Amino acid sequence: HGGGPVLGLEASCDETAAAVLAPDGTILAEAVRSQLAEHTPFGGVVPEIAARAHLAHLPALTAKVLAEAGIAAADLGGIAATSGPGLIGGLIVGATFGKGMAIALDKPFVAVNHLEGHALTARIPGMVPGGVEFPFLLLLLSGGHCQCVAVEGLGRYRRLGSTLDDAVGEAFDKSAKLLGLPWPGGPALEALARTGDPKRFPLPRPMLRRPGCDFSFSGLKTAVAQTVPKLASDQDRADLAAAFQYVVAAVLADRASNALGMMPGATAMVVAGGVAANQGVRAALHGVAEAHGLPLVAPPIRLCTDNAVMIAWAGIERLRAGLSDPLDHAPRPRWPL
Ligand code: KG4
Ligand code: ZN
Repeated sequence: HGGGPVLGLEASCDETAAAVLAPDGTILAEAVRSQLAEHTPFGGVVPEIAARAHLAHLPALTAKVLAEAGIAAADLGGIAATSGPGLIGGLIVGATFGKGMAIALDKPFVAVNHLEGHALTARIPGMVPGGVEFPFLLLLLSGGHCQCVAVEGLGRYRRLGSTLDDAVGEAFDKSAKLLGLPWPGGPALEALARTGDPKRFPLPRPMLRRPGCDFSFSGLKTAVAQTVPKLASDQDRADLAAAFQYVVAAVLADRASNALGMMPGATAMVVAGGVAANQGVRAALHGVAEAHGLPLVAPPIRLCTDNAVMIAWAGIERLRAGLSDPLDHAPRPRWPL
């Protein structure tokens, strides 16, 4: 690694993204193209459509970030591409594109685990004054992932707990759909909840006060499904949305508190994933971190959701540690941290 800027590529789900970071972590350029418009008619991500859209847009997006960064491809220090976990078609598009550039330019290639990207985002200099030191607790709260991870060092991740059924973002999306809200449901449900009374409909609180930090959301979704037919007004719908969000935040707070108990040396609680955008969830987690005397670190929303900045940064950390990957590294739809 000659210490040049690193290109990051992300195509594991429904965001096509590219970014260029200087070796010190300064973001030189970043771009994300959401495929929301392509998938909305189907009410969810269609893998085949996603892969084709990544293929159509990744080259132009890459050229755009290189131009914006003022970097010639030949001056890159390396190329990092998400190689799992995720939808295999998109992973193949992103990783193969990255490898092609690595071969053509004779640069190191880094196969980045998408979850490691989320895990290390809080360490990008400038993200938090003073930076986040290992070890820290990561709460990964997205549509596809829901887990508590002890981040002990680069490549040293210990999963403390995860969901037994739906991911938390999935729970938001499914409950939002039951409430007649458009996909993706999380932001719409949060907006509806704002005018609701969270105490009006008592909902179950799965896993609350159980030991450990596993999650479960399918029972909550069932309770929402059973309550929806009783709703008569917009106020009723808002009340149910508020109750759902209130219970999810309470459950996440309970699980996060246990996770911190399992990780006595933690320096911070870090949240990532789309659900980290939710203000009710953030407030509840903030309370837990504060009770443990720790800061709650939440990267800016655009870096909580899927992006290529985090992939480039994981590439920089790995290259710095002398790590890169062979060009026959195979993308993996499942790749636990
Ligand atoms: O991390 P992300 O962009 O993509 C992956 O799932 O990998 O997360 C998307 C998820 C969706 O389920 C979406 O509904 C949820 O995050 N989400 C929210 C909010 N914004 C996004 N959930 C609750 N409140 C929000 N404000
Ligand atoms: Zn993600």
